Amino acid sequence: MSKQPSIREIENAFLPAKEITDASRFAGRKEYVESAFYALLTEGTNIAIIGNRGIGKSSLAMQLQEISGGKNDLLRKLKINDNENLDFLTFYYACGGSVTCHHELLEKLLTSKNCLLDWSYDIPKARNFIEKYTPKFSVGFASLGGEKSTKTTTQTSQPEHDIETVFTNVVSSICEEKLAQNGIMFIIDEFDQIKDKTGFASFLKALATNVPNVRFCIVGVAHDINELIADHASTDRLFAGGIINLPPMSNTELEEIIRDAEKSIGNFIKFDQNATNKVVNLSQGHPYIVHLLGKYSLRTIYKNSRKSICDIDIDNTLKSIANEKTDLVLEDRYKKAVGSSAQREIVLKSLAQTQTYNLEIHTKDAYKKAIDLGVDNPSQFVGSLVTEDFGAEIVKIRDRYYRFKDSLFVAYVNARPHLHELKG
Ligand SMILES: Nc1ncnc2c1ncn2[C@@H]1O[C@H](COP(=O)(O)OP(=O)(O)O)[C@@H](O)[C@H]1O
Ligand SMILES: [Mg+2]
Repeated sequence: MSKQPSIREIENAFLPAKEITDASRFAGRKEYVESAFYALLTEGTNIAIIGNRGIGKSSLAMQLQEISGGKNDLLRKLKINDNENLDFLTFYYACGGSVTCHHELLEKLLTSKNCLLDWSYDIPKARNFIEKYTPKFSVGFASLGGEKSTKTTTQTSQPEHDIETVFTNVVSSICEEKLAQNGIMFIIDEFDQIKDKTGFASFLKALATNVPNVRFCIVGVAHDINELIADHASTDRLFAGGIINLPPMSNTELEEIIRDAEKSIGNFIKFDQNATNKVVNLSQGHPYIVHLLGKYSLRTIYKNSRKSICDIDIDNTLKSIANEKTDLVLEDRYKKAVGSSAQREIVLKSLAQTQTYNLEIHTKDAYKKAIDLGVDNPSQFVGSLVTEDFGAEIVKIRDRYYRFKDSLFVAYVNARPHLHELKG
């Protein structure tokens, strides 16, 4: 019999709050990893990873970072033919909510310690370009070097170049050093969070001409590349062959996440087939939900010294996730949409349950379900669910058709037990 895993191993068997960095824990996605690898091999192609929240974009991006640095573990695991190890100098930057425009992004890339700052410090030509730009950067250098730069006296002068030129010059001088054979790659995660993206596509175009060895991989929530870039400039050639539109994961891939997690604890605790199917079905293609349900089910079963997880355990986990607000953001959104109305909750759930494969909802189907459950006037509640007061989780796409804004929220609505008691 396998040895009892530690609490640490149990807690890390599933990772709802963390991207997958370890290739052995990265499930499925062969076709997308392969496309991304080919895009990396193609000179001049930038990459965009798009898809819904919680679908696995950042995890794929981090695997790409590994592959771009020549670590081919995932390619081998997926049996993707790899007759070369890439050699990029790759930087990963997540925008969060703090970047307002692409100029600010470039500034962050230049001044963040784990991006270009350290490299520019070591390469005099690059350092010089930055120091001429603005005093702000020199301060960064000074604190980095431990003593103040001797150039502080000239720091009040106007910047000699705009940020795009400085960035281009700096990456160009780093490229000249030939630190990495394939050039430099910037992975920009949460690109959708940048408020004003105007000018980024044109900048990329100019950069491609001036420093051909630089690539961007932009990652974010979007349906297509134009939505992500949100710029009128044409992106066709910039991202040719490099657009990875991540769909929901297949059931086989989602099941693989559970099997990998079991393996990581020596199969000491197992999900029986009913529990596995339940988790997979509830997640509706979102690996995040598998990790969330998996983690908290495993924790409880381990505490109770049991060895097998069944579907009733999953039901109990669902209840405790809701009660304990384990995912505070999703739970708050749920509560905001439902409010104090048992009827609105029924309508919300009816909408989520009648969403079709193309993510549309026909009101006829949703209303019927809600009426069967005792709601008198479902259209009134749909009317409120589109408003900001109730979180605007759904949008009207055309007459009698609605859509949820976020498919991860739909999975949560379907999985979460009722907040208000069902009457009748
Ligand atoms: N291929 C995968 N195999 C296993 N788990 C994955 C995979 N892709 C994503 N996950 C997990 O799913 C959750 C969401 O992934 P993440 O990459 O953060 O998605 P996104 O960036 O699209 O929101 C995380 O818990 C992550 O560990
Ligand atoms: Mg992400």
